[in-house]
Amino acid sequence: MAKKLWGGRFQEGTDPLMWEFNQCLSYDKKLYAVDVAGSKAYALALSKTTPPILTSHELAEIRRGLDAVQAEWESNTFEIKKDDEDIHTANERRLSEIIGSDIGGKLHTGRSRNDQVATDMRLWLMKEVVQDIEYIQGVIGILTVKAEEWIDHLAAGFTHLQRAQPIRFSHFLLAHAHSFAGDLDRMRNLLPRVSTLPLGSGALAGNPFSVDRELLRSELNMGKVSGNSMQSVADRDFVAEYLFVCSLLMVHISRLAEDIIIYSSSEFGWVMCGDAYSTGSSIMPQKKNPDACELLRGKSGRTLGQLSGFLTTLKGLPATYNKDLQESQEPMFDAADTVGKSLRILQGVITTLKVFPEKMKASLTPDMLATDLAEYLVRKGIPFRETHHISGSCIRLSEESSVPLSDLTLEQFKSVCPTFEEDVKDVFNFETSVERRDAAGGTSRRAVKEQIENLKRLLVET
Ligand code: ARG
Repeated sequence: MAKKLWGGRFQEGTDPLMWEFNQCLSYDKKLYAVDVAGSKAYALALSKTTPPILTSHELAEIRRGLDAVQAEWESNTFEIKKDDEDIHTANERRLSEIIGSDIGGKLHTGRSRNDQVATDMRLWLMKEVVQDIEYIQGVIGILTVKAEEWIDHLAAGFTHLQRAQPIRFSHFLLAHAHSFAGDLDRMRNLLPRVSTLPLGSGALAGNPFSVDRELLRSELNMGKVSGNSMQSVADRDFVAEYLFVCSLLMVHISRLAEDIIIYSSSEFGWVMCGDAYSTGSSIMPQKKNPDACELLRGKSGRTLGQLSGFLTTLKGLPATYNKDLQESQEPMFDAADTVGKSLRILQGVITTLKVFPEKMKASLTPDMLATDLAEYLVRKGIPFRETHHISGSCIRLSEESSVPLSDLTLEQFKSVCPTFEEDVKDVFNFETSVERRDAAGGTSRRAVKEQIENLKRLLVET
C-alpha cells in the first residue's frame, strides 16, 4: 500500500467514508498546472538559499519531473492513486515516482500545503479573473453594437413596471451596459488583491530556510508578497470578494434576462430570442421559450448561495489554517464556471436577439407625455409643482371625456389653465420628448451616442 505523505505518526488506517469526506482531488485537480508552476518556483527558491537546499542538478531533475507530471495531466494519462488526497499530494507522489524520492522528497522542504494551496488558488483565480474581464467586455461590447444599430427605436420606459416615459430602446440596453461597467471595474480592482503571494509562509509560522519570497513573487508573476505568515495561510478574503463580485454580476445578468423574458412575451412582443438560445415544449408545438434567459436568471441564485454559504464557513474560524478552508474551493470553482458560461450565453442571446420596433412604438401612449406637458408650462414660467398639478388635471379631463390626452382641444386645455396656447400640440411628439432629455446620461440621440463612446473606451483599457 502506498504511504500517505503524513502517515508517519499514524498506526491505523482512515475510515473509508472519512477518506472520501476529506479528499478534494476530485475537484482540486483543476489546480494541477498552477500547482506545478508553484512547485517549480519553490524549487528554484530552494536552490538559492544559503546553503542551497537543492543543487542545480536536483533543481533540473525536479523541473524535468514536474514537466512530466503536467504533461500527464494534460494528456489525461495521470493515474490517480488510492492515497492521493489532494492535488498537492498527488503531484508530489508522482514527481517522486518519476525522478526518485531522494530528490523529489526535498521539494516540500519548509513548505506546507497551507501556503501551497493558498498560492495555487490565487494563481488559478488570477487567470479566471482576467478571463471574466474579457467576457464582461464582450457583453458590454455587444450591448453597444446593438445600441448603435437600434438607436432609432423608441419604446416605453417603465417604473414600477408601469409605462412611464418614452425612451430610446438603446438607452435601455445601455442602462444594463452601465451596470456591467461597474462589474468590470470591480473585477479589475480585485486583481491586485488576488495577486498576493502566500508561498514562503510555511504551515503558519514562516519559512525556516529564508527562501527569497520576492523571487517567488516575480517567478509567479504576482503583485506582492503577503505580509504575515499566519494571516496568509488562513486568508480566503480573495474568494469571498470574488464571490461577491460574481454575485452582483449575476444579479445584473438576471435583471437583464428578466427584462428580455418580459419583453419577449406575446403581451409585449418587442423582442424574440434566437432559436439558438430558445427551446420548445414537449406538448405545445407553438411554444418557443426563452430558456437561456430563464437559466441566467435562475443561476444567479446559485452564486448568491455560494457567497452566503462561504461567508458562513469563514465566520468563527480560529486563527490560521483550519480544514474548513478547503470548503473555499468548490464555491470559487462553481462561481467561476457559472459566471463564465453565463456571460458567454448572454452575449449570444443579445447577438441573436430580434427586435420588433413597431411593437415598441405601439407601447407609446400620449399619457406618457404628461410630464412633458407639465414641463411645457414650466417653460412658460409656471413653477413645476403647480404645472404637475395642472397636467394631472388634464389627465383627469382626458379620462373623464374618454379622449387621449393629445386629443383634448385647446379650449379644454385652457379650461384647466389659461396659459396653454396653440403650440401645446407640439408636446405630443415622442421623438421630441426623447430628444429633450439631452443632459449627459439622457435618452437623446446625442446623449445615447456619448454613452456608447464612453462604454467603448472601457473595452480597450486592460
Ligand atoms: N487540500 C487542502 C485544502 O484545500 C490543502 C491543505 C491541507 N493542509 C492541511 N494542514 N491538512 O485546504
